[in-house]
Amino acid sequence: MKALIASGGRGTRLRPITHTRNKHLIPIANKPILHYAIEAAADAGIKEVAIVINADSDEVPRAIGDGSRWGIRITYIPQLTPGGLAQVVALAEEFVGKDQFIFYLGDNLVVGGVRRFIDEFLRSGCNCYLTLSRVKDPERFGVPEIRDGRIVSVEEKPKQPKSSFAVAGIYLYDHHIFEAVKAITPSTRGELEISDAHQYLIDKGYKVGFAEITGWWKDTGKPTDLLEANRLVLEYITPDIQGEVDDRSTIAGKVIVERGARIVNSVVRGPAIIGENCVIEDSYVGPFSSIGSKTVVRRSEVEYSIILRECRILNIGIRLEGSILGNDVEIVEATGKPLVHRFLIGDQSRVEVV
Ligand code: DAU
Repeated sequence: MKALIASGGRGTRLRPITHTRNKHLIPIANKPILHYAIEAAADAGIKEVAIVINADSDEVPRAIGDGSRWGIRITYIPQLTPGGLAQVVALAEEFVGKDQFIFYLGDNLVVGGVRRFIDEFLRSGCNCYLTLSRVKDPERFGVPEIRDGRIVSVEEKPKQPKSSFAVAGIYLYDHHIFEAVKAITPSTRGELEISDAHQYLIDKGYKVGFAEITGWWKDTGKPTDLLEANRLVLEYITPDIQGEVDDRSTIAGKVIVERGARIVNSVVRGPAIIGENCVIEDSYVGPFSSIGSKTVVRRSEVEYSIILRECRILNIGIRLEGSILGNDVEIVEATGKPLVHRFLIGDQSRVEVV
């Protein structure tokens, strides 16, 4: 069993955060999203992992390395342009050979790992095994039609979904998938759709099984998905206070305070994570907040937010909530006259003021 992980694409729906970084490296609970896919593969005992990357950037290999820190070997496969998920699979044919493999979309998160799905796939004798999750908005996803306990069709982003399931970005295949990805043609949006490859397998009579994901699963396509994924991952953290907490501060609930961080005269209410060498002073950090390393929060309040590293949130009179700040962002109290909101904001940013 091998693993193939997708980490290409342009991440356009996550701009401006993705102007300067690959979306798979955005931290969730202070850890790049991509780590969750790699850890899921490593935890399932997989040793050979290929990651498909954008050919014009070495950002992912530089951040992830050769896999030795997870006890696995990582091969990087460049993709010239994001031509669709079936193209990602086609690029991995040589790497996979005749083995069975798990295809994991690097922007997906699932609690509890993937071992269960691998075991079920191997037991089932299926050529293709899909994981399904009930969602409120199936039209955003690949959607299966299920009759008498069998998948009879899969449509990509249908206007009229035939079920309330999304096909999650965790797929299990044998080598017949390569026949499928070579046989299909680009969709109207110009991509080789993985759903069309699944439909091909169904039409040709290959055995396509499925499992329902009963815990949570998240595709982190949009900013609100990132905040939700962060919330869900933080629910599972193990409290760990490595940094300093002074005796005027209160830590409540599950909180991680990383090495070198200082909590001074503040309240941190978990689940929350405070990164290395942060300073939280005269402030409140509320549930579902991830604060990246070296960020300073002083006389301010933050809740349900993802703050990346080296930000400065100083003396602001309103609580930051539902916010995502990139690296090195400053939000500070306005001083001097006239008393105004003053913005210096890059392309495709969004600010809401009261
Ligand atoms: O998340 C599950 C959904 O993922 C499925 O329900 C859909 O059937 C499937 O098509 C896919 O839909 P998305 O619209 O979410 O796909 P997206 O373009 O966001 O790409 C998913 C991941 O694959 C993401 O990590 C980026 C990467 N990717 C994408 C493309 C199109 C590549 O590495 N190369 C590509 O060419």
